[in-house]
Amino acid sequence: MAEALKRSIESLPGVGPAIAEKLRESGYSTIESIAVTTAAELHDAAEIGEVQAKKIIAAAREIAKIGEFVTADKILERRKKIGIITTSSEKLDELLGGGIETQAVTEVFGEFGSGKTQLAHQLCVNVQLPSERKGLDGRAVYVDTENTFRPERIRDMAVALELDPIKTLQNILYVRSYNTDQQVLIAEKAEEMIEKENIRLMIIDSVTSHFRAEFIGRSVLANRQAKLNRHLMTLHRMADLRDIAIFVTNQVHARPDMFFGDPTRPIGGHILAHSATTRVYLRKSKGGRRIARIYDSPNLPEAEAVFIITEGGIKD
Ligand code: GTP
Ligand code: MG
Repeated sequence: MAEALKRSIESLPGVGPAIAEKLRESGYSTIESIAVTTAAELHDAAEIGEVQAKKIIAAAREIAKIGEFVTADKILERRKKIGIITTSSEKLDELLGGGIETQAVTEVFGEFGSGKTQLAHQLCVNVQLPSERKGLDGRAVYVDTENTFRPERIRDMAVALELDPIKTLQNILYVRSYNTDQQVLIAEKAEEMIEKENIRLMIIDSVTSHFRAEFIGRSVLANRQAKLNRHLMTLHRMADLRDIAIFVTNQVHARPDMFFGDPTRPIGGHILAHSATTRVYLRKSKGGRRIARIYDSPNLPEAEAVFIITEGGIKD
């Protein structure tokens, strides 16, 4: 499968620059994503005829080696290599089974001000810690869609951990994304630099805001969901094959029942529900405390942890 990652979609039969662009706009930026789609979807995405679409899909499946089996011991071997990044809160780490894991997509969702962005900042610092301090000696990519990244916060958090603030900032590769097309392409581009730049963590803050802004109204909800799903699939594959942690944020309303009938609502609800490996729900509590709760994890119990946000970052 690693081979498929290196090849661009232009290597598929009949996919020239114009078709490639249309495909990418619809979120088909990798051979993998085309391999798992249907001829009808490709037709809708890039007005490709059925015969041609089937040829493209068949070629993509060939390259992506879909359905190639491996023995379970190899899976165990790979799972043993899972790396863990501390959140700086022992309670939250415990809740997460040690911290944020590589080979996984972790989604943190919650209302405004619940601490999603603060947690993202903290992880960018903590991933740089050595393994004795529950880091991965690695660097971070920060995809900022809301313009809420603050280097000053990184500096304060680094100082609190007795790290060199300048070096800490130099180990965060920042990119601003202005729309969903860019977001999809940025993820693909980031994939190419993971090994060379020693990236062990990728943040997307927030993964849903552009999707929510661009696809308004019921008639386009299915398109939004399809494009977002493809984007998330790319993220999963990256996390898995490149052994990195992917941490995405998703703003939801504290009381979704108040917004019944609002077409923007489902994006925080079930769209990501079956996609993120671990879903963490954050909410504000008394005295500036934050409460985290795990949702739908295959291997973690549903439980809660309390932490606080201080000048120096996340604390118990
Ligand atoms: P949205 O992006 O609006 O959905 O919110 P969010 O979940 O990303 O919230 P964010 O992580 O930005 O949390 C903001 C909160 O963090 C603030 O309300 C503060 O309580 C806290 N916070 C941010 N910066 C500091 C700081 O420098 N010191 C302290 N003590 N708290 C801070
Ligand atoms: Mg935020």
